[in-house]
Amino acid sequence: MIGPALYGFFGIEAGTRDGFEYSSVLANAGFVWTPRALDAWLAQPGLFLPGNRMTFAGMVQRSERDDLIAYLLDVTAVEDGN
Ligand code: HEM
Repeated sequence: MIGPALYGFFGIEAGTRDGFEYSSVLANAGFVWTPRALDAWLAQPGLFLPGNRMTFAGMVQRSERDDLIAYLLDVTAVEDGN
């Protein structure tokens, strides 16, 4: 497993999924994932949260981040009871 599962992650605290070993910076970050937080994370992961372990250069284009965030809001939504 390279990164944590993202199903249902909007609205929950960062670095708190069971079954994934986060860096201490993410585990102790103490914020909730929102579209705005994800936008900052994707723009410059290393600047948003220095010391995190996500090996990703970032997405420079704002329109690309907007598209990805819209997509993730859709596909990561978890229906009740499923
Ligand atoms: C655009 C693509 C990506 C998105 C949307 C994304 C999203 C995220 C999010 C939201 C988290 C935090 C999850 C949480 O708090 O539970 C995360 C963490 C992480 N991701 Fe990504 N990610 C992407 C690409 C990648 C890539 C390419 C890699 C590695 C090759 C990666 C590896 C990781 C790792 C290792 C963590 C945990 C970081 C830590 O513990 O400090 N991700 N990712």
